[in-house]
Amino acid sequence: MALKITVIGTGYLGATHAAAMAELGFEVLGLDVVPEKIELLRRGEVPMYEPGLAELLRRHVAGIEGSTGRLRFTMDYAEAADFGDVHFVCVNTPQKHGEYACDMSYVDAAMESLAVHLTGPALVVGKSTVPVGSADRIAARIRELAPAGEAVELAWNPEFLREGFAVEDTLHPDRIVVGVRGEHAEKVLREVYATPVAEGSPFVVTDFPTAELVKTSANSFLATKISFINAMAEVCEAAGGDVVRLAEALGYDDRIGAKFLRAGIGFGGGCLPKDIRAFMARAGELGADQALTFLREVDSINMRRRGHMVELARDAVGGGSFLGKRVAVLGAAFKPDSDDVRDSPALNVAGQIHLQGGQVTVYDPKGMANARRLFPTLGYADSAEEAVRGADVVLHLTEWREFRELDAEALGAVVGRRVILDGRNALDPERWRGAGWVYRAMGRPAA
Ligand code: UDX
Repeated sequence: MALKITVIGTGYLGATHAAAMAELGFEVLGLDVVPEKIELLRRGEVPMYEPGLAELLRRHVAGIEGSTGRLRFTMDYAEAADFGDVHFVCVNTPQKHGEYACDMSYVDAAMESLAVHLTGPALVVGKSTVPVGSADRIAARIRELAPAGEAVELAWNPEFLREGFAVEDTLHPDRIVVGVRGEHAEKVLREVYATPVAEGSPFVVTDFPTAELVKTSANSFLATKISFINAMAEVCEAAGGDVVRLAEALGYDDRIGAKFLRAGIGFGGGCLPKDIRAFMARAGELGADQALTFLREVDSINMRRRGHMVELARDAVGGGSFLGKRVAVLGAAFKPDSDDVRDSPALNVAGQIHLQGGQVTVYDPKGMANARRLFPTLGYADSAEEAVRGADVVLHLTEWREFRELDAEALGAVVGRRVILDGRNALDPERWRGAGWVYRAMGRPAA
């Protein structure tokens, strides 16, 4: 009989995983403790902007006309425990307030709430990003709490999806990593992932700590790569070099690779910044903090980029101060094709300029509602054209396609001064300069 799957936590990760499991042909029950989320999902709607996810949900959510009916939602742990053979735990692990360490309380609560109802054999699979050592601790806790005791197994199966590509990354992952303690858990997970493996995704079987570390070290590597090129941007600025040409030339070396070498205002979002900090905190607890001191530098190079953009903007409006100056900010999401504004470099820059007395107007294609909630005191506009009206300087801070396609002539007619600072090295300098703008980018000569 086909395996039945529950997915606990229906945020970016869980909602996508639940829909993907239904797409692979399994009967799936998604669980969340937030009633509003469950109501939305039951209607086939998604609480965030993620391309392709709503369509995938509507193809499977029970009760929607024409759906397979394979995907249902609940708030009841007893029902989930009873339903599933495999339980994926997909709740978030945010940074603790005022600390580097991550907050494990959601993972712990989900694991415990499920475990107390597990009366028969089951496989619990952690997908959340956790400090190394968590799986060991959680396995012991589940054994303590579950009425079925030893018949409940734990596995750790980190998720590498990128926001904006969540559906594609889940259905066609670069690799599937499973940390297991026995052959049975491996066999069950091979069955779950049979389709992506048959389509070419490598399946890596390892122990708990290695599986946990693959995720944190992958994100640390990506963060390091971005900070590396941003450090080179600093040197280029001092030496008169061009970091975009430099990155292109570096990228042709396939040992280095061209991806994640885009210099600009740096990384943000709900993962990279908090994951490198939590990794440093955990290494400290393990007595291995020296191994990761370089990540402190990665973090500070990254934060310096935001401050540097504020300085460039201050210079552009006349040097002394932002008082009485209008600053247009194009972009609020931490990256394009997402409405996520968590630790967004764009909003951080906008917020700093606002605090220094600038009159800031922000526009983002999808991130406006979340931005307004997080930074209610900033000014907002409903279009790029409206945002730049009368501006003394325009900052391009999130590289949406819409911004690359802007009509530089038309915008030039409504701005106060034709000055644009490209914080993502994503616009075409010739187009903007050709339309009479002063175009400046990070790590590139002034022209
Ligand atoms: C990341 C990892 O890529 C993913 O594998 C993991 O599961 C979760 O964390 P995500 O946070 O969705 O995914 O975004 P990602 O595409 O990695 O971008 C992160 C940040 O880095 C963004 O702010 C982006 O603008 C920035 N970035 C990325 C750069 O500044 N330069 C680059 O070259 C690439």
